[in-house]
This record gives sequence, structure tokens and C-alpha cells, in this order.
Amino acid sequence: MPRIFSGIQPSGELHIGNYLGAVKNWVALQHEHESFFCIVNYHAITIAFAPEDLRRRTRDMAVGLLASGLDASRAAIFVQSDVPEHTELAWIFNTITPLGELERQVQFKEKSARQEQVMAGILNYPVLQAADILLYLADTVPVGEDQVQHLELSRVVARNWNARFSPDVPFFPEPQPKLTPTRRIPGLDGQAKMSKSIGNTIGLLESPEQVWEKLRPAVTDPARQRKTDAGEPAKCPVVYPLHRAFSPPPVVAEVEEKCRSAGWGCMDCKKALHAHMMDELTPIRVRAAELHDRPQEVDAMLHEGARRARLVARETMDTVRTRMGLDAAQ
Ligand code: TYM
Repeated sequence: MPRIFSGIQPSGELHIGNYLGAVKNWVALQHEHESFFCIVNYHAITIAFAPEDLRRRTRDMAVGLLASGLDASRAAIFVQSDVPEHTELAWIFNTITPLGELERQVQFKEKSARQEQVMAGILNYPVLQAADILLYLADTVPVGEDQVQHLELSRVVARNWNARFSPDVPFFPEPQPKLTPTRRIPGLDGQAKMSKSIGNTIGLLESPEQVWEKLRPAVTDPARQRKTDAGEPAKCPVVYPLHRAFSPPPVVAEVEEKCRSAGWGCMDCKKALHAHMMDELTPIRVRAAELHDRPQEVDAMLHEGARRARLVARETMDTVRTRMGLDAAQ
């Protein structure tokens, strides 16, 4: 079976951008792939955090992933810091990654611009991401669009290491992103992508009332000042893309027609969206509430995931150490 790897930071609540851009795809792909899904807590500590929060958010993330439909009997679901080979390989990759490649990463530029003092972890973040993926020799990485540049760097890292230490038959594959039609979910502000750090999110586990409170004021096509003004779905920055993500095709066609003909007001359109969102999200919220009350089960699942991940990680590191002459004392 082909192997996939993907990761998610436990740096806040799981939101519908994560779900539609990545996690929903993981749920579908786990059936035909040997799958490794990692809660990347070492990545999450590159921004300010409190240890107690991090611990809680890590477990909450596991609950959210399982409730979304990941199946621990198929996929290895684990926490990054439970598999120390991730940081070991990241160090090695740091020694073969040109500084310029890291400095031109858009996410580095954005994150470092927001901080007075820039820590090295922000710069080296994508090197750890390359280690995450390559440790499992994964060639396919289901992610949202914002991760595409990081994956380019993973390919550079794989190529550089292979050129130096495995020139005849490449040891590391060059991983490719696997995107979904919903690869970039906009935030509620209708401008930036939906993102925990911007605070424009709808949480996957929010109640129907909370979701409605967020949808109600969301911006729509500015041409629709009154209910009788006709609109253009392509100019509706949030509600229309969410309809396309959550509503069945006949409803999306109806939304398009009723917007262009002013047959519906934007509130009617939002109510229809809310109903279809809740059809998909309510079962997830119910499962999450059940799992939340069974923390030991969640922990046991994470331990088992880490055990399975480590079997592969150790094997990769054995080869890496041997090829690099790091095995003198063995
Ligand atoms: P993170 O935690 O920010 O996001 C997890 C996944 O959700 C996707 N995503 C989105 N997709 C569509 N629209 C959005 N608005 C949106 N917001 C988030 C992300 O693309 C991602 O797939 N660096 C990674 C974590 C990581 C990783 C890895 C990913 C660490 N190591 C190895 C893949 C492979 C990150 O910060 O994702």
C-alpha cells in the first residue's frame, strides 16, 4: 500500500479550514494507504504557549481527529514528541539545508515580521516538517494549499541528502502534496484564509447556535445591499465557498440561481448553509463529546500510534546513520 503522512499543530481548536483542507481527505485516504497522522507539538512550541494548555490541546486534537472519522485501527495517529526520531532527523537535515531556502519561505517571512525577536525554531520549522514526512518515506502528503511551499522544501531536502549519501538509488522519495477541491477555505472576514492565528475561524466542534452567530454577520457580495438586489456567487467570499464545501450539488445550483435572480436574500442563503453544515458537523460533535469523557482510551490510542510509528522511524534512522557514518560505536 502506498504510504501517506500528514501533520497538524495542536495550537488551537480544530477549525473547518483544517477539516475541509486536510482532515476530511485523511479520513478518505486512510482506507487505501498506510497512513501516519501526527499531532505536531514540536512545531506548536515555535510560538508562545503555556505547558498546561499545550497538553490539553494535544489531547483535544486527538479527540477532534478521531471524531472526524480517523480510524486508529487503520492509521497510526500519534504525537510528534513521542517519536524522538523526528527531532533527530531534523538536526541532520539542518546540516544540508541552505539558509537561503529557509529565509525565502513565505510563512517564515510572515511569522517573523510579527515578532520583535525571531527565534531560530521559526526559521527551521520546515526542516522539522521535512523530517516528519521523510522519516516515514512518505511520497504523498495530504495538506491544504498553504503547505505547498513547505513541501517544496521537503523535496529539496530529500534531493540534497540523496545526492550526498545515496547517489545511486535515492533513499528518500520526493514527497508531493495532495490537495482537495477545498484547498483554501476563506476566513469569516472574507479576506485571509481561515486561520487560528487570525481568529477568523469556525470551530469544527462549535454548537449550532455558535456557528449561526458567526455565519449571520459574514460578508457577502457587496452588490447585494437589499434583498431585491441580484448578486454574483463568485463575489460572495465566504458563504458561497462554504456552500460548495458542505451542500449537495443540487443545492449549490439552487444557491447560484437564487443569488443571481435575487430569489433568496443572503439570510435565506445562510440559513440553508447552516442546515447543511450541521448535517455534516453534528455527528462529529456528538462523537467528540463521547470521546472527551474517555481520556484513557484516547491516550491508549496515541501510545499505540507512537509505537507503530517508531517501528518505521527507527528503521529509517538505522539507514540514515549507517549511510552517514554515524554508527561507529554500534
Ligand atoms: P496546520 O496545523 O496549520 O494545519 C493543518 C492542516 O490544515 C490545512 N489548513 C487549511 N486548508 C484549507 N483552508 C484553510 N483555511 C486551512 N487552514 C489550515 C493545512 O494546510 C494543513 O494541511 N506545518 C503544518 C503542520 C505540519 C505538517 C507536517 C503537515 C508539520 N509537519 C508534515 C504535513 C506534513 C501546519 O502548520 O498545519
